[in-house]
Amino acid sequence: MTQTQAGTFFDSFAETFDTFYDGKRSHVMQWIDRRYRHDMFARHAMTFARLGDLTGKRGLDVGCGSGPYVADALRRGASHVVAFDPAPGMLELTRARVEKLGFADRVTLQQGYFPQDAPPGPFDFAIIMGVLDYVADPVAFLKGLRPILSGTAAISFPSRHWFRTPVRKVRYWMRNCPVYFYDEQSIHSIGRQAGFSTVDVIKIPGAGMDYHVCVAP
Ligand SMILES: C[S@@+](CC[C@H](N)C(=O)[O-])C[C@H]1O[C@@H](n2cnc3c(N)ncnc32)[C@H](O)[C@@H]1O
Repeated sequence: MTQTQAGTFFDSFAETFDTFYDGKRSHVMQWIDRRYRHDMFARHAMTFARLGDLTGKRGLDVGCGSGPYVADALRRGASHVVAFDPAPGMLELTRARVEKLGFADRVTLQQGYFPQDAPPGPFDFAIIMGVLDYVADPVAFLKGLRPILSGTAAISFPSRHWFRTPVRKVRYWMRNCPVYFYDEQSIHSIGRQAGFSTVDVIKIPGAGMDYHVCVAP
């Protein structure tokens, strides 16, 4: 089953994935990340710029991974964040990250697949970064978000690129983890079908591959 493949893959990949953050990689790898994976940095900055003031707000991070966005939402004053992911290894890294920062009492860790295991809302904001890449039915996914979200969700969608898309498809196919790609029109259509009245799409500039999208009821 597709979803389970993504969860299993990310569980085995958790420690390696986490080295991307906090300067844990070698200088050469950090240079490569800055040069070729700048989307990951850009989408982080755009998320917090576009979500605005989080003071006192309750948030949900779907596919939280090792928790970099959870930590930053709490640093920016969110009162509570539900960190949601199917991969236990990722949730463990999130737990360690927020504990180190002294934020553990403002976080709930929840293991599961969105949307079927969605936590109860309402949430003032949601963050969904690097997840729609692995979702076979994005309309059902966002339909699951709609009733539990009262404010804005920041979501990344991977775009299609003539060279990088086929390369990525093959890389993830070899890891038994299917990936999906989008264009601006399909993102608008998915957002509307899921019942969101606002769907703001920004293509991250440069050679990157992500759309940064904000949806609101
Ligand atoms: C590329 S990582 C991104 C992690 C984090 N959001 C970040 O940007 O650093 C994708 C995460 O999505 C999770 N994921 C995949 N499918 C999911 C689903 N259906 N529901 C919730 N999380 C999912 C994976 O387990 C993985 O931790």
